[in-house]
Amino acid sequence: MEITLRPYQISDIDEFMQWACNSEVLQYIYMQFWINPNSSREDVLSYFEKRVIAHPWYKAICLQGRAIGFVAIERQPGIHGLDRGRGQLSYALGREYWGRGIATIAVKMAVSSAFQEVQDLVRIQALVDVSNKASERVLQKVGFVKEGVLRNYIMVDDGVGLDVCIYSLLPTDLILK
Ligand SMILES: CC(C)(COP(=O)(O)OP(=O)(O)OC[C@H]1O[C@@H](n2cnc3c(N)ncnc32)[C@H](O)[C@@H]1OP(=O)(O)O)[C@@H](O)C(=O)NCCC(=O)NCCS
Repeated sequence: MEITLRPYQISDIDEFMQWACNSEVLQYIYMQFWINPNSSREDVLSYFEKRVIAHPWYKAICLQGRAIGFVAIERQPGIHGLDRGRGQLSYALGREYWGRGIATIAVKMAVSSAFQEVQDLVRIQALVDVSNKASERVLQKVGFVKEGVLRNYIMVDDGVGLDVCIYSLLPTDLILK
């Protein structure tokens, strides 16, 4: 199984749409403010140009060269730049590719190259919905440390807070084999 990471290109738009407009994939990645299963190609293209192609660290997960998902690391400087050493990890795969160990391989590749490439990155963290057991397992298999549960941390629907687990990996932590 050949898994590689590379930047997305405009020519990937049709493959991107295949997973990005799938409600099961969208359930935990909060792209639904911009994209949903009924989005037009034009809407997805606009999202793709602004938030994927223009993103400084957003990679296509490729299987045998075919883009089947994404892994991204987002930096948010925060107030006075105090958060600038922190990268927020997110990832997803097309539904038909789940359960084959692909996300684990891709996240291992992503975190090790991000720590080498991204200046002053001292921590990669991931927030995972408490019910998203497959994603928690991916992080555990990579070597992320669970730091706790952030209660009512995310609000997708008005008035309803969602609990999320917070996981982190430091450059000095071991990436598991
Ligand atoms: C999360 C996601 C990326 C996992 O991708 P994947 O390639 O299937 O992950 P892997 O095969 O590498 O590992 C999945 C692990 O979770 C386990 N798992 C799957 N469903 C599970 C469940 N309901 N409960 C407990 N463990 C579960 C698998 O058994 C596997 O662990 P194992 O290797 O110890 O058996 C994929 O399901 C996805 O794209 N989901 C939608 C988007 C998403 O949730 N992104 C993450 C947001 S934080």
